Amino acid sequence: MVRGLTEALVAPLSDADATIQSMPDASPAKWHLAHTTWFFETFVLRDHLPGYRLFDDAWPFLFNSYYEAEGPRHARPQRGMLSRPALDEVLAYRAHVDAHVELLLHRADLAELIALGLNHEQQHQELLLTDLKHALSLNPLAPAYAYPRAPESGTASAVPMDWHRHEGGLHRIGHGGGEAGFAFDNEGPAHEVLLEPFALARRLVTNREWAEFVADGGYRNPALWLSDGWAWINAEGLTAPLYWREDMAFTLSGLQPILPDAPVAHVSFYEADAFATWAGHRLPTEFEWEVAAAGHDPSVGVQLDAGAGAFGIHPQGSPGLFGDCWQWTRSAYLPYPRFRPAAGAVGEYNGKFMSGQCVLKGASCATPRGHSRATYRNFFPPDKRWQFTGVRLAKDL
Ligand SMILES: [Fe+2]
Repeated sequence: MVRGLTEALVAPLSDADATIQSMPDASPAKWHLAHTTWFFETFVLRDHLPGYRLFDDAWPFLFNSYYEAEGPRHARPQRGMLSRPALDEVLAYRAHVDAHVELLLHRADLAELIALGLNHEQQHQELLLTDLKHALSLNPLAPAYAYPRAPESGTASAVPMDWHRHEGGLHRIGHGGGEAGFAFDNEGPAHEVLLEPFALARRLVTNREWAEFVADGGYRNPALWLSDGWAWINAEGLTAPLYWREDMAFTLSGLQPILPDAPVAHVSFYEADAFATWAGHRLPTEFEWEVAAAGHDPSVGVQLDAGAGAFGIHPQGSPGLFGDCWQWTRSAYLPYPRFRPAAGAVGEYNGKFMSGQCVLKGASCATPRGHSRATYRNFFPPDKRWQFTGVRLAKDL
């Protein structure tokens, strides 16, 4: 079912749509289809199915992402040059690998590895959509990936700004593993963290509030910005979130009016931090966010559903802490105490990226529903904003 969603996501695409690459950070849809398949072929079939022969001996070079232990690979910025293999051939690769993985589904000793492959695939489903959005946004025709956008639910306005208050204290952070179900290695080990009293906003920052920040000269006032952020917006000439075009925004449904009560999306950590400063508040730490999420259902809110056919942020924002946009925290993405990456190539999955990035919590409208949880640690460099990234404010009490 997870694998089928990836194919459903590319069903509206031509081979050309699936081949183009808009920037080094983003990958073609066809590459995502093949790379997630390479992950199963390499770590499950090659390593555990006796007699398995690679679908094509030349393809691991094309579809290895960053695993040094798996040898040299095609340069990431050149992924858009892979007009061949064609989309049909990549889909045949997927069918071939799926058929062979099915032979191993009964192997209890491989269940954890196969679960990793499926959760990896879900991460790439989100990247596929955000990468595609970026690519389509550069087409002057502003083409829609899919209609319709998420349904507008009545005329209600955004949830009033209010705060969840927390006493602080000593709290258990991170995933306990084992019986608690699947988690990525970066979510553990569970450990204790001492929090001061704090409050977390009940909803995300809206487009209306962001427009006020812009109108108030938010992008022109160095007092609001971290030094690196100020240098970055000036070097890039930035004055608004990534997809804003005056009072319109590029969406997966093409160019659409900016909805004032919808959560703002496609802002960087630097912008999120400057906004929080302007608003007289701050971003939460990842630990505050996780403690506040206790008792919140991670499967509610606008997230990606198989077969929904509609994509986008809720016009008035999702209830709860999950959905619509990933939320920047002020926490650097670092290993938890006693963290050790797994042995072998799979150990390269998360640990080697623990430098220069910030943690994001929650889930977005492009996150497959059921993929995220309170302990989930998404991470991106502070200047990246092509993901569905938004802002939830926090304050000290
Ligand atoms: Fe990957």
